[in-house]
Amino acid sequence: MKALVVYYSRTGNTRDVAQDVARELNCDLEEIYDTQKRSGIIGWLKSGYQANRGKYTIIKELEKNPASYDLVIIGTPVWAGKPAVPVSTFLRDYRDELNNVAFFCTLKASGSESALQAMAELSGKTPVETMVIEESEIKQKTCDCKLEPFVRDVVDF
Ligand SMILES: Cc1cc2nc3c(=O)[nH]c(=O)nc-3n(C[C@H](O)[C@H](O)[C@H](O)COP(=O)(O)O)c2cc1C
Repeated sequence: MKALVVYYSRTGNTRDVAQDVARELNCDLEEIYDTQKRSGIIGWLKSGYQANRGKYTIIKELEKNPASYDLVIIGTPVWAGKPAVPVSTFLRDYRDELNNVAFFCTLKASGSESALQAMAELSGKTPVETMVIEESEIKQKTCDCKLEPFVRDVVDF
């Protein structure tokens, strides 16, 4: 099974998890690069507004071709109960190039269900597996108990 982990991260949480998943699966990893500035309070407000309104952005073209992978694992932070805008854009732009998908999200507390649901709708696919990791679990390094079953299940899919 050939897998690719694709993620967007504004402040590093989702990147940490994506790197762990790719390391455990010994698979390729690619970051989604946005063309909009999202740092600081203005970036935070803009991002929340855009996610809430279902807006898109312009992302840089991926280096790897998702169509050449059996499984693409897509990671996003939750923004206003939605996937991050660059991830929504990735799912819209690459939906025809995704064979099978698995999703994970990182968040502070709530909104994972609606974010994962939106990811399924945007990709037009039911994920083979999903994982939700809270920021506190990343900071305290206690997310292995979620990572292990997720990695085991996607390997077996
Ligand atoms: C614009 C914005 C909106 C957010 N909305 C939510 C939310 O609805 N629910 C939640 O639990 N966390 C929310 N968060 C927190 C992030 O999901 C959380 O910090 C995530 O781990 C950040 O991932 P990153 O470091 O990879 O960017 C939001 C963060 C931002 C920047």
